[in-house]
This record gives sequence, C-alpha cells and structure tokens, in this order.
Amino acid sequence: MMFYEQELKALRKSGRYRTREILDNSVLDFASNDYLGLSHIASLHTQTTQILDNLNAHSSKASMLVNGYHQIHKDFEDALCDANSFEAGVVLGSGFNANIGLIESLVRKGDELFMDELYHASGVLASNLNSVNVTFFKHNDMNELSKLLENSNAKRKIVAVEGIYSMDGDLCPKEVFSICDSMNAILIVDEAHSSGVVGNKLMGVFDLYEICPKENHIKMGTLGKAYGSFGAFILSSEHIVSYLINRAKPIIYATSLSLYDTILAHKSLKYILQNRDRLREEIQARQEIVFDELGIKIEGLIVPIAIGDNKKVLEIKKELYLAGYSVGAIRQPTVPSAIIRLIARLGQSQNELRALCQILVRIKS
Ligand SMILES: Cc1ncc(COP(=O)(O)O)c(C=O)c1O
Repeated sequence: MMFYEQELKALRKSGRYRTREILDNSVLDFASNDYLGLSHIASLHTQTTQILDNLNAHSSKASMLVNGYHQIHKDFEDALCDANSFEAGVVLGSGFNANIGLIESLVRKGDELFMDELYHASGVLASNLNSVNVTFFKHNDMNELSKLLENSNAKRKIVAVEGIYSMDGDLCPKEVFSICDSMNAILIVDEAHSSGVVGNKLMGVFDLYEICPKENHIKMGTLGKAYGSFGAFILSSEHIVSYLINRAKPIIYATSLSLYDTILAHKSLKYILQNRDRLREEIQARQEIVFDELGIKIEGLIVPIAIGDNKKVLEIKKELYLAGYSVGAIRQPTVPSAIIRLIARLGQSQNELRALCQILVRIKS
C-alpha cells in the first residue's frame, strides 16, 4: 500500500488531480500573473545583475533581524513608501508568508478577524490557527461587514480584503475604507492582483480610490505578479511595521528577501512609475477587447469565464493549448465551480488577445 493512495485516487476521480507542466515557449502566455509583461523585459534583468556585480555579497545570507537586512532592502522599502504614501514598509519572502505573518501576529487573544470569504488560501490557512478568532463575511458584502463590526465586542477588530480578488477579478468596494475607519478597525488590503494594475500611478486600490493611508491601514503587495520578480511587501504606519518586525514569524525566522529579487522589483517599480500613462492605456485597451469579444467587464486583467464542469474546463484548456494559448483551468477547492481564468496580460499583444477570445467563444458554444 502506497502512502496517500486513496486520497490521490479520490482527487483523480473528482477531476481535481493536478500536475505541473513545463510550458512550451512557443505557447502564448495568458495564464501567468506577470500582468505587465515585465518578466520579459531584458533590460530590467541586466540592470539588476550590474548592481549585483558591484556588491560584496550576492545573497541576503540571514534573517533581517540577524544581519540579513541590506541597504538594497531599505532603499526599496523607502521607494515603496514614497510611491504609496505610507510611513513605513518591510519586504519579505512571499505574499503567502506575508499573509501568514500578518494574521498570526496581528490577531491576538480577545481580537476578532473579519475576512472576506474569497480571501486567498494563505490568509484562510492562518485564520485556522487556534489563536485566531475569525468570522468570514459574504464576498464584498459591506452591509454584512458593517453589522458584524458593530456587533463585535472584540478588543481589536481586523478586516482582511483583497484589492482585486484573484479568481473572480472583483475589486473590493471603496466603502471598506470608510467602514473600517469609522469602526476603528485595522484594515489589511492584499494587493497581490491590484498593485501594478489599477490606480492613476498603477499602485493599486489605495491609489485608485485616492485613499490617504491612515494609522489603521495595512497594504500588502506581492512582487511575483505585476512586478515580474518574487517576494512581497507590507506597508503601514511606523509602529505597525515595528510590531511586525518584532512579532511576525515569517519576517523573524526566515532568510530575508533575495537581493536579486529586491533589486529587480525596485527596477520594476521605477519602470511602472515612469511608464504609467502608456501602461494604463495598454491595460484599458485589453479591458475593451475582453468586453467587445466576451461581453465581460473586467476591473483589472483577470478574466473569469464560468464553465462549471471540471472535465469540460480541462478539455477547453487542452484545446486552447493545442491552438497555441496557455490559460488557467481553475477547479475546486480554489473556486466553488470550475472556471477558465484568462489573464489579459501586456506580455501578449492586443491582436493575440482578440484572437484568443474569438477562439474561446467558438470552443465554449
Ligand atoms: C491574493 C493573493 N495573495 C497572496 C498570494 C501569495 O503571493 P506569493 O505568490 O507571492 O506567495 C497570492 C498568490 O497567488 C494571491 O493571489
């Protein structure tokens, strides 16, 4: 008897069995989260290696709290604070770790966490810890959130939402900011899919909704998506960042973010700010193509296409792959019902996106 044989059998039977695949380079990428196509801009990589060549170490070597905090990290944190109008910031190894660290450290005994039911798996995992008292509210339902906050006697109330939700592509409502401010609740916004994609400066939903960051606001962003690098950042008030540095385990007990990833993400930030008008136009053009061809209005660059059947979603993915396009086939438990998740990323041309949408309409019907 092999270990976990029954579990694997059950996954196969329900169409939820997953494998890793190495993509053929000739296939057009409409699946990755490299929203702006920065992963393919060679100059960002060469500029990064030039800086690394002149450092006396090329790896970060230790936790930030030992001697793994480098000027490279600090310069990027300062640049993120400037671009996002936050007081303080800290970079760390991944968005997954950022959510674990934020929730595990901020939600203490006597506190209550209010989490959108579609929040990312990393946040949900952290909310399962015994020490965390969590209440999930209906996706984007601000009436329910207001009532829950009003009725809570918790010492501290902490709300967790995403800027743009990773699977359905919805924006969080602007009211979440005023609701949290008026209830004195701490608000965590996971901007994994919104930073680099929305807002006048393309900084995310704080930027889009013109929110001036306050003491109770925490912004988390990932570097492996629009920034074309790897890692994450947390921005907040000076004292919350000090607290995280003292209590968040993924910051304390992990090697700090690699120097390569940090420099690359810093280059990407500069690139986004310098090219924001052109990038915004390119994003808008793709949103219009998706609306024209599929009738779906998207707020960012995530296009969720409801299919509802695990087998069918895999067949569609395969057919598109054979036609030269890579898209996501997302199934349970990631989503309640199977979808094709198409990313209208800038790494592929507008004509390629239009052609894919037209093939999809044909295949689906
Ligand atoms: C909303 C959200 N938060 C966090 C993460 C985790 O980020 P990372 O990939 O940097 O670990 C993801 C990644 O898929 C995400 O979609």
